[in-house]
Amino acid sequence: MTEQTRPLDVVILAAGQGTRMKSSLPKVLHPVAGRPMVAWAVKTARDLGARNVVVVTGHGAEQVEAALGEADVIFARQAQQLGTGHAFIQGLDALSDHQADVLVLYGDTPLLRADTLTALLSDHRARGGAFTVLTGEVPDATGYGRIIRDAQGNVERIVEQKDATPQERDVREFNSGVYLMDARARELSARITNDNASGEYYLTDLLGLYRAEGAEVHAFKLTDPSEVMGANDRTGLAEAEGIIRARLTQEHMRAGVTIHLPETVYIEDTVQLGRDVTLEPGVILRGQTRVAEGATIGAYSVITDSTLHEGVTVKPHSVLEGAEVGAGSDVGPFARLRPGTVLAGGVHIGNFVETKNARLAQGVKAGHLAYLGDVEIGEETNVGAGTIVANFDGVNKHRSTVGAGVFIGSNSTLIAPRVVGDAAFIAAGSAVHEDVPEGAMAVARGKQRTLEGWSKRYWGGLRGKVQEKLPWLAGWLDRQG
Ligand code: UD1
Ligand code: CA
Repeated sequence: MTEQTRPLDVVILAAGQGTRMKSSLPKVLHPVAGRPMVAWAVKTARDLGARNVVVVTGHGAEQVEAALGEADVIFARQAQQLGTGHAFIQGLDALSDHQADVLVLYGDTPLLRADTLTALLSDHRARGGAFTVLTGEVPDATGYGRIIRDAQGNVERIVEQKDATPQERDVREFNSGVYLMDARARELSARITNDNASGEYYLTDLLGLYRAEGAEVHAFKLTDPSEVMGANDRTGLAEAEGIIRARLTQEHMRAGVTIHLPETVYIEDTVQLGRDVTLEPGVILRGQTRVAEGATIGAYSVITDSTLHEGVTVKPHSVLEGAEVGAGSDVGPFARLRPGTVLAGGVHIGNFVETKNARLAQGVKAGHLAYLGDVEIGEETNVGAGTIVANFDGVNKHRSTVGAGVFIGSNSTLIAPRVVGDAAFIAAGSAVHEDVPEGAMAVARGKQRTLEGWSKRYWGGLRGKVQEKLPWLAGWLDRQG
């Protein structure tokens, strides 16, 4: 096999506790930009084309394994946290063959880019490296293992904070904990001991063990050391999220999306945006959301798992979840499209309209204040202000069907299950409790009574109060004689 085609296995260390989160959730399951930290590591491994991905679990193992259950990874349990070297060996033990290069990642460094690791891989391979450690340089590397180089500048060993001499602690080059190594890893890692200040098995010792074999050992220095910044507490999580958020908005802008006040916009990396999409301030896009070319999302709208076709306009403060919006439709402001909403093209949904399990055909208009649940509405139908589809009888939900070209007068209630035929006309204020056939007109409301002269008698009886509180009406009463 040539260097380039050698397979890559990735071992992700994720058994540690992370007490600083102060949480009942295992540290590596805390989400950053919509994805648990450990899932970022798995995604990065996949982006690198890894053959096997092993996740070493320990603290909260069941939860971590359940969260990654569908990610096609191999789990290795580390029953006791005896150190990174021990964790690594558990990971290797879970692999059925050991012919691959092995990359070690941590489950709590979501900022590490696949591009950086690709550069590490090509540097390692170009140099014919046996073991390469990813390092960074910072003014003060307190807490990290330090990279100790010999007089020629070659990497000699890694010394942990606890074991370091004062001079060694002055070293600014630190160990990120990411290593790439050849297939000797299995044999050499078995020689790691716990003879150090912590009494732990240090994975860092592996570097020295490769050196002792006369193997090619190198360091690859990060351009941006913050990429390996682990999120240890909630502040770290928020910082990491801010960085990932900024990266994603920048990528979208470079790809042709206009984002006003990008620092206020939150887009998960599962979201796809077409060219000439415009995002106004405060927009939140989550999950499997797809927005096609030329759509505009108004300020403070939150869109989750939804598909928006070409040229859709979502006006401010709208909330969409599990909805599909057809080309050229407009939604909002203050609209709520719930799961199962499918709008065809050119549909108009105005303010304070809620839809759920609703299919609205081409050109349907529901401009104001409506609830459309469990209903199918035919093309060109006009849904008047205040229309309610009463889909729930207290126990069960029922479906209704409204035909094409129907006019539903304002403030009508369709008591489900109901069928309204094409071109029917429903008078305003109707409580429709019987089906309406095609072309029919239905009025279902109390008959109007009009009592002439009633106001004069009523207010006249209250004249004292009217004079005190309603001067215009008092004048009107006076004029009535
Ligand atoms: C480790 C490195 C240190 C490096 C630093 C970078 C060692 C001995 N030291 O230190 O040189 O600068 O990372 O962040 O490796 N883990 C397990 N099982 C264990 C212990 C740890 O799975 O028994 C996992 C943790 O969940 C974590 C990772 O390994 O993801 C690193 O563990 P941590 O305790 O943070 O290592 P450090 O002491 O910080
Ligand atoms: Ca650490």
